Amino acid sequence: MEGTYDIHCHILPEVDDGSKSMDESIQMLKMQYEDGVRAIILTPHYRKNMFETPEEIIMRKFGSLQQRAEEKVSTDLKLHLGCELHTSMDMLELFQIRKNLTLAGSSFVLTEFSNTDSKDYVKERCYQLLSNGYQPILAHIERYECTYRNLDFVDELRQMGIRMQVNAGSILGSNGRSVKRYCRKLMKRDLLDFAGSDAHDTLQRPPSIGACATMLEKQMGYSYARRILIENPSKIVEENHG
Ligand SMILES: [Fe+2]
Repeated sequence: MEGTYDIHCHILPEVDDGSKSMDESIQMLKMQYEDGVRAIILTPHYRKNMFETPEEIIMRKFGSLQQRAEEKVSTDLKLHLGCELHTSMDMLELFQIRKNLTLAGSSFVLTEFSNTDSKDYVKERCYQLLSNGYQPILAHIERYECTYRNLDFVDELRQMGIRMQVNAGSILGSNGRSVKRYCRKLMKRDLLDFAGSDAHDTLQRPPSIGACATMLEKQMGYSYARRILIENPSKIVEENHG
């Protein structure tokens, strides 16, 4: 499928535990392009006391990657800057001091929790984002106990206005059969909004939007695959540039 988006990946080099060099990043972008991806939101981790790369460095690497991608991959591959924000009690203050915590300058925030965070904590932190004008997208919800065990809770969060993302690898079965089954159940109940590669490198956690598109089409049909990989993500990018 051509013209797909990847809204979650760690391709920006040397800013988190993702790509370790500009060359590796270019390799990853080539894989994405060959897979039909034409727009990527780069989402380096921001996590207190773990990943706090200064914004100037992120901006500088983003500028170099954009330039190199135009030369070495294609001028037809759009790169946007975003972030995967690990929640904390003081995360809202961060929005005052950092510019790129949302996806591609939109109001959407790719929001990450710890695997054992409680339902109440997840709800409360998302509510804080919502009430401050941000739209949370829960990152890889197949990892959290509270969303993995309980689709009704996922439904409840969606009714609050929170969007759901799973990783392409989980849809494909790279994280086991039961995770794959979970993703399928989510889709059947129409509780999924986005799939992202969450790519960290070219081998262990590679970009896999192409295979994911094929699988979504096989399991759910062409228009569903388009909705998850093109239409929904395009609304993020267009909110700011539209
Ligand atoms: Fe991630």
